Order: sequence, then C-alpha cells, then structure tokens
Amino acid sequence: RQRVLSGIQPTADSFHLGNYLGAVRQWVAMQDSYDAFYFIPDLHAITVEHDPKTLADRTRNAVAQLLALGLDAERCTLFVQSHVPEHAQLEWVLGCLTGFGEASRMTQFKDKAARQGADRATVGLFTYPILQAADILLYQADGVPVGEDQRQHLELTRDLAQRFNTRFGKAFTVPEPFIPSGNAKIQDLQDPSAKMSKSASSPAGIIELLDEPKVSAKKIRSAVTDTEREIRFDPEAKPGISNLLTIYSALTDRKVSEIEADYAGKGYGDLKKDLAEVVAQFVEPLRERVRTYRDDPAELDRVLARGATRAREVAGATLAVVHEKIGFLPPT
Ligand code: TYM
Repeated sequence: RQRVLSGIQPTADSFHLGNYLGAVRQWVAMQDSYDAFYFIPDLHAITVEHDPKTLADRTRNAVAQLLALGLDAERCTLFVQSHVPEHAQLEWVLGCLTGFGEASRMTQFKDKAARQGADRATVGLFTYPILQAADILLYQADGVPVGEDQRQHLELTRDLAQRFNTRFGKAFTVPEPFIPSGNAKIQDLQDPSAKMSKSASSPAGIIELLDEPKVSAKKIRSAVTDTEREIRFDPEAKPGISNLLTIYSALTDRKVSEIEADYAGKGYGDLKKDLAEVVAQFVEPLRERVRTYRDDPAELDRVLARGATRAREVAGATLAVVHEKIGFLPPT
C-alpha cells in the first residue's frame, strides 16, 4: 500500500470548514486504501506566541475532533508530533540543506511575519516549512493530502528530498501533493478574496465546526455576496456566492450545477438559509461526538501512545539511514 501523511495544527479551539473540506475529509476517505499517518503538529503551534494550558487543551481537542470526523485509530496511525523526537532531529539536518534565500521566499512565512511585525517573528516561524518537510520525509510518504495553501511547502519538501538523495544517496521518497480539485480553498465569508483561516480571518469569516449552529447560521446570513441577484457559480465575478455554493455542494455531495438549477429564480436569502440548515445537520451530531471523546481523556491518551509507538518505528528507521548517509557515527 502507498503511504499518506498529513497534519493539522492545534492553534484554535475548533477546526473550521476549510480544514475539513480541504483536508480532513480526504484523510478519512484514505484510511483504508492507504497506510495513513495523521498527526497534530504541536511543535509548529509554538512558532507563534501561545499559552501552554490552552495548547494542551487544544491538542486533545484536535484529536477528539479528528476521531469525531471519522478517523479510526485502528485503521490509521494518529499521533502528536512532540511525542516523536525524530521530527526535530531531521529538521536540523534538512535545515543545513536549505538555502537562506530559499526559506525567505516562503509566502506563508512572509504573511505571518508581516502580521506579527518583524521584531516579533521568531526563528521558529522562519524554519517552520523545514520542520514540515521533516514531518513528511520521515515517513516516506508517497502522498500528502492538504489544501491549496500548502502547495509551496510541499514544493520545498520535494526539493529537499531530491537534494538529499542526490548529494548523499537515496534516503527519501519524493512525495506528491494530494490537493482536492473542488474544495481545496474555502474562502473567508467576510472577505471572499482570502482563504478561511484560523490565524487571519475575523471570527465572522470562519465557520467553526464546534460553533453552535445558530452562530454559524448568523455568519452565513451575514456573508458578503454581491449586488446582483442571480445564484451562479462564477468565482471571478461572484466570489462570495461561489464560495457558498462550493460549501453547499461539498456538504451535500451534489454537483454545483444541480444546486444552481434548484435556486433559479430564488434569492440569496434562500440559499443562505438552506446552507445554514445543511451546516447544522453536519455539525449537530459532530459536536455530540466530540464531547463524548473529550469526556474520556484516558482513552485519547491511549490512542496517542499507540500512535506514537508506531510512528517512532517508522521515523526512527528513516533517521538512522539519514544519519548514516551524512556521516554521523552510529551510537554505541
Ligand atoms: P493547517 O493546520 O493550517 O490546516 C490543516 C489543513 O487544512 C487545510 N486548509 C484549508 N483547505 C481549504 N480551504 C481553507 N480555507 C483551508 N484552510 C486550511 C490546509 O491546507 C491543511 O491541509 N503547515 C500545516 C500543518 C502541517 C502539515 C505537516 C501538513 C505541519 N506539518 C506535514 C501536512 C504535512 C498547516 O498549518 O495546516
């Protein structure tokens, strides 16, 4: 079986619809056809200022959400990054192969650094994409299911894998990005020219999976649209309505064209009301399942302990090869 690997940061109390439609939904679908590794990158989460208690809570919450969304710890390997020290170890080696200019061109770093102010941006934020490359290459992943915003980080990962393999001999599989065609970029409801984002969107722009349905309904009602009346998919001219149609289509598994036909002659208010209902039907049972998982932290810890053991087997084997190839003496 081919292997996939992906991660989602514990930087908010709830995942949002973009995380689910762009990434986690694919992860769930891939559990049986792939040897799947999924993890919570808590090392990445401390590249921006954070509160320790909140991080611990959000990490457990992230695991609970992944299980509630359909990951099954019997069918995939689910773990927390900091439980596998090999991630930070490989990051060092890859950092020594990454050009300073090359790292400086990462657009997510530039955006985040600009938002924080040059003095507050950390070195960890700068090396973030190199750690991400280590995450992927440690597991010899063939594919990495992510949203569109991760494309550049995946390019860097491929470059680093090829560079290492060429210079020191083959140690890494060169991974392919698995980016879904329709839902790879869910937009901010308040600013449909930007992606829905945990760190950059205003609360009104994000549909959080754990929000109460009436909160989401209000956000959908207030979503920015345009001054026409026609419900038509046209991301250039009508980014707001097109984004609502994308979400509607993804959550109902129906074609956008069918939904357009249903709403011929109807107004934006009708579409928004029905979409709020579709979202409510999705999140109601989910919220309940998350609560159930949250109520059993001992079981979550057992899942993570098992995941870490399996992850360390694979990661340790890769790191040993890497160390040997770059000329580190074996221990003992
Ligand atoms: P993160 O935590 O920001 O997002 C998790 C996943 O959700 C996708 N995503 C979206 N998809 C569609 N529309 C959106 N508006 C949207 N917003 C987020 C992301 O593309 C991602 O797939 N750097 C990564 C975490 C990471 C990682 C890794 C991923 C660390 N190491 C190794 C893959 C492999 C991140 O911050 O994702």
